[in-house]
Amino acid sequence: MSKKVVKVRVPATTANLGAGFDTFGLALTLYNEFEVEEIEGIYIESYPDNEYLKNPENNLFIKVVKYLCEAEGKRFKGAKLKQTINVPVARGLGSSATAIVAGILTGFAVHKKTLTDEEFFKVAYMFEPHPDNLLPAWKGGFITALKTEGKTYYTKVDFPKEIKAVVVIPDFELSTELARSVLPDNVPLKDAIFNLQRATLFIRALEEKRFDLLKVAMEDRLHQPYRKKLIPNFDKVIESAYDNGAIGASLSGAGSTMLALATENFDKIGQAMVDAFKEASIKAQYKVLDVDTEGAKIEIFER
Ligand code: HSE
Repeated sequence: MSKKVVKVRVPATTANLGAGFDTFGLALTLYNEFEVEEIEGIYIESYPDNEYLKNPENNLFIKVVKYLCEAEGKRFKGAKLKQTINVPVARGLGSSATAIVAGILTGFAVHKKTLTDEEFFKVAYMFEPHPDNLLPAWKGGFITALKTEGKTYYTKVDFPKEIKAVVVIPDFELSTELARSVLPDNVPLKDAIFNLQRATLFIRALEEKRFDLLKVAMEDRLHQPYRKKLIPNFDKVIESAYDNGAIGASLSGAGSTMLALATENFDKIGQAMVDAFKEASIKAQYKVLDVDTEGAKIEIFER
């Protein structure tokens, strides 16, 4: 008897981009893939092998699918999940968002329900509160988002194709929880103004392709000054990106990955940033990625 298989591919994301703390998010051409069919019991294959994610208790995709099944008043029998994890976990590249978005798309497809923005956020926020990761993972491209009590407002802004993202991934994890715990509850008015001016400039610089403005537009006083103590050689990593031709640089999401934006010299920038981490005895690897414009893609077939 043939079985229905659902396969979802979701892009990595880099949030904040400096001044756009909790606001900007960009989808990147690095993907996690979730292929699932219904079986009795839960069976998870993970590539590369990952004991933690093979445990259903830790697997966000399974949790979301189970939640959506039970929300329909049905019994969750189980699932055979084959997941290919290319987005490093707990590194500020939206790995949790990929699993949540894939779970939501799968659940809505299986239960033949139309996925509205409202339904999406209702479920997504139970598992992660950050639209700046969730939205680009779902919709692709560059997103500006804001969340109120009752509604999430967002826009998609064209991101110049000639800009690539060089992501430099150190070999240590950093939980968003820890990276948020070091932030103050209040900031000086001048720091709020500092970021407001830069975030606005960032959007206009993209629209007008004024790449010379991105360096100043990515400066930040709301999160990076507090988080940088968690990232060895933070300033040097940023400096080495600019010294080698980057047009912008920041922490990626809550870290630990560092991001450079560039239109050329990608490998040179990546290697220089890796070397700056090495000076602090941190191993790192870099990847040169494009902007993903398509977002999550779902395929349903019989096997
Ligand atoms: N904007 C969030 C943060 C993203 O920086 O904490 C978390 O993934």
